[in-house]
Amino acid sequence: MKVFINKRIPEIGITMLKEAGLEITIPETDDLSYEKWLQYCKNTDVILNVGHNKYDQNFFEKCPNVKAIALFSVGFDHVDIKVATKRNIPIGNTPDVLSRATSDVAFLLMQSVARRASFYFQKVKNNDWGNFDPMYELGQELYGKTLGVFGLGRIGFEMAEKCKKAFGMNIIYHNRNHNEEAEKELVAKYVSFDELIEQSDVLSIHANFKPEQSNLFNASVFEKMKKNAIFVNTARGGFHNQKDLYEALVSGQIWGAGLDVTNPEPIEENDPILKLSNVCVLPHIGSATVEARNGMSRLAAENLIAFSKGEKMPHIANP
Ligand code: DGY
Repeated sequence: MKVFINKRIPEIGITMLKEAGLEITIPETDDLSYEKWLQYCKNTDVILNVGHNKYDQNFFEKCPNVKAIALFSVGFDHVDIKVATKRNIPIGNTPDVLSRATSDVAFLLMQSVARRASFYFQKVKNNDWGNFDPMYELGQELYGKTLGVFGLGRIGFEMAEKCKKAFGMNIIYHNRNHNEEAEKELVAKYVSFDELIEQSDVLSIHANFKPEQSNLFNASVFEKMKKNAIFVNTARGGFHNQKDLYEALVSGQIWGAGLDVTNPEPIEENDPILKLSNVCVLPHIGSATVEARNGMSRLAAENLIAFSKGEKMPHIANP
């Protein structure tokens, strides 16, 4: 079975695939044009996909030989799962192995914004150490405050657990379903969407993104948030309206924002949000640790090996 991998991945997955007898193609350059990428896809049986290439009706029509796709990601919003399922194409993903790393980044952003870390780092880089000033650009402490989690799955749970342990934060959440483990272990309280945005001191997004949730966090939401609220998004940039977020940050409607994902992504060079001192932006590095990426490599390989043996993928996004 031929596997096309569009970018180098940690060795563990490559070794597993080779040992299972799969024939691997990895292009010399990982900066393929769309046409070149499509050409590789047309000539393979299965794909191990790194990044957010779109897999929709149009793709599957152009590449009818593709029989399975293993994503090197937990998110699958770039795949039309309905179309893939209709065509009997399993879509594998990489849950769990990146939950710790991604929630670490959410925690890091929350703290960076609360203590104005990017602002101060920028000052130091500008050779502006400053004098001790009792009133200047003060941060806020998070002890005993309320963390609101939008989407309390595996990553949301890890974020909530860290906040509970580190700062004794109260946890509220809004989710499709109740998370009984979180309610029991973290004393997390299920609330409505409106209660979530009105009561959170830190609002952190950890849900899977669906197109109908596009710009869900917009002006009317930011308006209802607390003035001291920190907005954290490590899920997908599509969740927030970036122009509205900018306005809310400039007008002091909310305290600050920590973003590992932006809308659009990559962020535009002259996006005014980058000029703000109450913002910390990272370039979608949630899973960028050796441990998480090794885990993702292993899971993606496990998925393709199972498929090559005619078995169900162990980590699958299709319903
Ligand atoms: C994921 O795994 O979904 C990350 O966001 C990278 O795409």
